[in-house]
Amino acid sequence: MFDSIPNNVNLDSDPKLQRALLKWQPDFLSWWKEVGPEGFQEDRIFLRTAIGVGQGGWANYDYVTLPEYRWGIFLANPRKADAVYFGDRMGEKLWDVVPGEFRKELRRLIVTQCDTEPASVEQQRLLGRTAPSLLDLRALLQVNVEEARHLWAMVYLLHRHFGADGREEAEQMLERRSGHADRPRILAAFNMPIRDWLAFFCFTTFTDRDGKFQLASLAESAFDPLARTTQFMLMEEAFHMATGEGGVARALRRTGELMRAGTDPRRVGALPFDIIQKYVNEWSSASHDLFGGEDSTNAATYFAGGLKGRFNENDPGKYADHKALDESYEAQVFQDGAWVSKRIPLRRAMNAVLLDSYHEECARIVERWNAVLEETGASERLLLPSLRFNRKVGLYSGHAYDPQGQPLAADAWQAQRDRWLPTRADLDYVQSCMVPVVEPGKVANWIAPHAKGIAGKPVDFPYVLFH
Ligand SMILES: [Fe+2]
Ligand SMILES: [Fe+2]
Repeated sequence: MFDSIPNNVNLDSDPKLQRALLKWQPDFLSWWKEVGPEGFQEDRIFLRTAIGVGQGGWANYDYVTLPEYRWGIFLANPRKADAVYFGDRMGEKLWDVVPGEFRKELRRLIVTQCDTEPASVEQQRLLGRTAPSLLDLRALLQVNVEEARHLWAMVYLLHRHFGADGREEAEQMLERRSGHADRPRILAAFNMPIRDWLAFFCFTTFTDRDGKFQLASLAESAFDPLARTTQFMLMEEAFHMATGEGGVARALRRTGELMRAGTDPRRVGALPFDIIQKYVNEWSSASHDLFGGEDSTNAATYFAGGLKGRFNENDPGKYADHKALDESYEAQVFQDGAWVSKRIPLRRAMNAVLLDSYHEECARIVERWNAVLEETGASERLLLPSLRFNRKVGLYSGHAYDPQGQPLAADAWQAQRDRWLPTRADLDYVQSCMVPVVEPGKVANWIAPHAKGIAGKPVDFPYVLFH
């Protein structure tokens, strides 16, 4: 079996770990069969597989069937730093084992991150049926196998470093189900259905990007195996996010061109601009909630302990003070009819700091999407909603705010909700546009074609060989 798990963690030399993984592997495969991508299990898909961490090792493209995909376990190469570089333990040697005093916290961080990986596979399981092109189908399945690999990567940490507790957590990763009434996934956005490809592209833009920022902050961790596992996962995440950004851009291009030509997108089975904006509103605000409360004692503990840093914590010149003891974070909240300034000690505001880094990056993406609209000659522009809009978690969840972040009364919110978030009718309409296209090089009518293929192959390459 261990020949079949590409790895750079010396699996061969650890019989105890081998036994644990041997017990877990069949359960993983039945989970994949039950709630992984529906269909396509016998088809040959042009996928990349990581077989090493070096150049040329992590992106090997070839035809494989999904059940034969080799889910590997990799740590990125050692970091430049060999000492903890933020929090109270600065200067200590990086940890190869979990310190007893942070066992609970590290387990919680790893479990919460790990749970999102299988969750997203479950959320996306039916999308293959309605892929707008072969290249999109390939992208979906690539994302799915890599999220499953991320599950393996995190389960390895649980098995290797957390003993019986870790084994139990690993089992539970395969027992929870996205959207299940009794056994839901841990975080709300990972229980929301992804019904159609517009939702998939918004999810991979906004929700996978939350994943990027969480992974990046864990990649700063003093617990070195966690840092290096997440560092390697980030290489694969880049493709997921590019899939999302490119997908929305192509939908906008199609919609913009139709509008410019005076054609109502609805008349030809394409996506109206206002529905795309509503999806952006829904998935970005749900993703904002994933960062947790802006004022959080857990976040302070994680930072103080050196468990979880800020985005690019170790970049020269990025942060003046790696202890974050003296500064504070300020947020404006509308309360009892007036704006109130909230001052949060910086360590407790680490979720807010990370969310701000995330939001800046999302703003650049929306700018690029708007540049696509501009190119088509359409006058509409997308708006990235304010961090205050539609929040269920944190500082802004106590009041209603519009997408610009201005407060409004509860009844005004109710009256306008359907202008800002998808309605049942919107979802049904988008579903009606989801016509599968499986001929190489062809694409559904609601979306513009890809500008280029993958791994140097042309757009009309047969990325999926149906059995
Ligand atoms: Fe992932
Ligand atoms: Fe991802």
